[in-house]
Amino acid sequence: METKKINAAITAVGMYVPEKILDNKYFESIVDTSDEWILTRTGIRERRMMENGATSDMATKACEDLFKTTNVKPEEIDAIILATVTPDMMFPSSACLVQKNIGAVNAWGFDLIAACSGFLFALQTGSSFIESGRYKKVLVIGSDKMTSITDYTDRNTCVLFGDGSAAVLLEPTTDTSYGIIDSILHIDGSGKDALNMKAGGSLNPASHETVDKRWHYIYQDGKAVFKVAVKGMADVSYEMMQKHNLKGEDIAYLIPHQANLRIIDATAERMGITKDKVTINIDKYGNTTTATIPLCLTEYYREGKIKKGDNLIIAAFGAGYTWGSLYLRWSLD
Ligand code: COA
Repeated sequence: METKKINAAITAVGMYVPEKILDNKYFESIVDTSDEWILTRTGIRERRMMENGATSDMATKACEDLFKTTNVKPEEIDAIILATVTPDMMFPSSACLVQKNIGAVNAWGFDLIAACSGFLFALQTGSSFIESGRYKKVLVIGSDKMTSITDYTDRNTCVLFGDGSAAVLLEPTTDTSYGIIDSILHIDGSGKDALNMKAGGSLNPASHETVDKRWHYIYQDGKAVFKVAVKGMADVSYEMMQKHNLKGEDIAYLIPHQANLRIIDATAERMGITKDKVTINIDKYGNTTTATIPLCLTEYYREGKIKKGDNLIIAAFGAGYTWGSLYLRWSLD
């Protein structure tokens, strides 16, 4: 790998999850399912629901939480990258709304759509901004109000998703043994029919017909996605380990996207990583799409589990298909 003069390091984290909890029992009352099925097939016990407010409101709260932990002021932020599949509106971007809410008066920014790989792709994008030397302080946010696009009559999908948001601050470090070291990222549009939201874009603008067909909700062929997700996440994470000569015991934590505990377990097994070294929040929050990974980072760091110098591998897979892995060494005390 070519030597870089600057790495991007995560120098602050913050999060927000709404208070309202939807547990598995609730789903037993609205669709033909059971707590036992949901738990054994997915690993989910409960998820959160944002009742009043949108994706940008959750992202704003996550950023406010982050700013409580750093001397950096919102006006010092150069750029905001907000990964989401549930922007408040098609435009303006939710990044603009967060910029105004937090008072990041000198920032530019944009939304990034890569479904469940959104935070991973945004983290690499923000990292490249820092490595270029042009930007010094980049906010990378994963925020999704999945309950706004979930069909609560479809048992195949409604039990899976929840709302949440988390943010990280990227700043330069000249000690290149820390920070974001490498990433391997992929997209493959042949996945479009297996996981999508068909309407609301330029292909199928909103109409009575699209509403009647329930095309403004998530559609997923779970079995098809499951197979490629396992292979995609495991292969790319293993490739990252090979590339950097890392063994299972060299890695403090695998931080996988949280779509299904069985996909997570299969990825960890392929990497030779024991279960105690895999971050999990799917039991509490379900699949929060772009927020799963930064929520894990924030909670495990705050609980004292992720420590300075730890080797971390982030892995994700999502609609598109999109997938990848990212290797970083944690730099926060
Ligand atoms: N409760 C009870 N039964 C359910 C159910 C629910 N909530 N959801 C589906 N089922 C049923 C199905 O109808 C099917 O019944 P049938 O055999 O009578 O048709 C049966 O359970 C098995 O369905 P299947 O889809 O094979 O289940 P699965 O074990 O694959 O689990 C998912 C379903 C969605 C949990 C799983 O496929 C998955 O996690 N897929 C990948 C998700 C992912 O990674 N997405 C990418 C990022 S978002």
